Amino acid sequence: MAQQVQGVVARAKGEPVAIETIVVPDPGPGEAVVRVQACGVCHTDLHYREGGINDDFPFLLGHEAAGVVESVGDGVTEVAPGDFVILNWRAVCGQCRACLRGRPQYCFDTHNAKQKMTLLDGTELSPALGIGAFAEKTLVAAGQCTKVDPAASPAAAGLLGCGVMAGIGAAINTGNVGRGDSVAVIGCGGVGNAAVVGARLAGAAKIIAVDIDDKKLETAKGLGATHTVNSRSADPIEAVRELTGGHGADVVIEAVGRPETYEQAFYARDLAGTVVLVGVPTPDMRIDLPLLDVFGRGGALKSSWYGDCLPSRDFPMLIDLYQQGRLDLDAFVTETIALADVEKAFERMHHGDVLRSVVVF
Ligand SMILES: NC(=O)c1ccc[n+]([C@@H]2O[C@H](COP(=O)([O-])OP(=O)(O)OC[C@H]3O[C@@H](n4cnc5c(N)ncnc54)[C@H](O)[C@@H]3O)[C@@H](O)[C@H]2O)c1
Ligand SMILES: [Zn+2]
Ligand SMILES: [Zn+2]
Repeated sequence: MAQQVQGVVARAKGEPVAIETIVVPDPGPGEAVVRVQACGVCHTDLHYREGGINDDFPFLLGHEAAGVVESVGDGVTEVAPGDFVILNWRAVCGQCRACLRGRPQYCFDTHNAKQKMTLLDGTELSPALGIGAFAEKTLVAAGQCTKVDPAASPAAAGLLGCGVMAGIGAAINTGNVGRGDSVAVIGCGGVGNAAVVGARLAGAAKIIAVDIDDKKLETAKGLGATHTVNSRSADPIEAVRELTGGHGADVVIEAVGRPETYEQAFYARDLAGTVVLVGVPTPDMRIDLPLLDVFGRGGALKSSWYGDCLPSRDFPMLIDLYQQGRLDLDAFVTETIALADVEKAFERMHHGDVLRSVVVF
């Protein structure tokens, strides 16, 4: 029977979000209902609320979550009721041209639940990134559930479901950071600081954190940044070059999603270096770069969807590192909050007060 639970809904562009009763159908073929235990507040949720992703209001927000599978539909073999899972927003199809070429991390046909969750009056909800986990329970495709060690804390594990995975993956998967590399990370929120952690895991020799907020830079230092640059008071391109023998960093990771910071990343990179764009821009944004510089500086300009992760490969591995004390996921949990506090958490995110506020149920 369909269940009624509480969820955080964004009704219209720019309007404060509110808790509403939502209807969660029983799982159909290939679907699962998950009892959410924790869900982090990611900047992408705020992008949704501000109409920066699309206009498919009302949105059921939340997508950085861990929980326990409550029930599964016909044909589901990968997870069973009782499994502790991290929700992912790229359930690979196994059949598209990317999957068939052995590159499932790029899957071009990722899928979500087919049925819709609704408001009480039947209005269909658009779940953020096909998840919608600021809710006591949510309906997803079974492939969006990745089973991990249930001993891990849900608040920490859930962060791998989006921002922390995106950041770590931007460094280790997309940027292919190697031992001895110099890395600069522009924008050190949850995603950028995770890129700092990823660069450290990969053995980078120099990790330069760039932000406009000293609090974020302090955290970056604690997580492994060897140098910090406040780009309000110093030119970040000059500063990164100075710190790398005048050359620029081997890999520069942009974790803000703005044209000006992308341009900084482009010019703060050494010749033949790599730029990784993991920040998500809005549809109105444009960049204007001399094409000769794009050619002349060589290297690679890459985008990182979800840290080019493969959830089934990367989530359990990173949970292992967490359990062994080699990956401090708890450092990303600035505060745990109640479902009713998501709007306030957006405010705090806006003011740069938190790395992650995490709703715990
Ligand atoms: N590619 C992906 O798969 C993926 C996944 C999750 C999030 N994201 C995106 O990553 C970006 C960061 O997300 P987050 O959750 O870390 O957000 P956040 O708000 O926690 O962090 C953003 C950081 O950027 C800093 N910043 C803002 N303007 C800056 C500037 N001009 N120069 C330097 N630093 C600046 C802020 O001080 C803050 O520390 C967002 O665009 C988000 O949508 C991408
Ligand atoms: Zn595919
Ligand atoms: Zn996110």
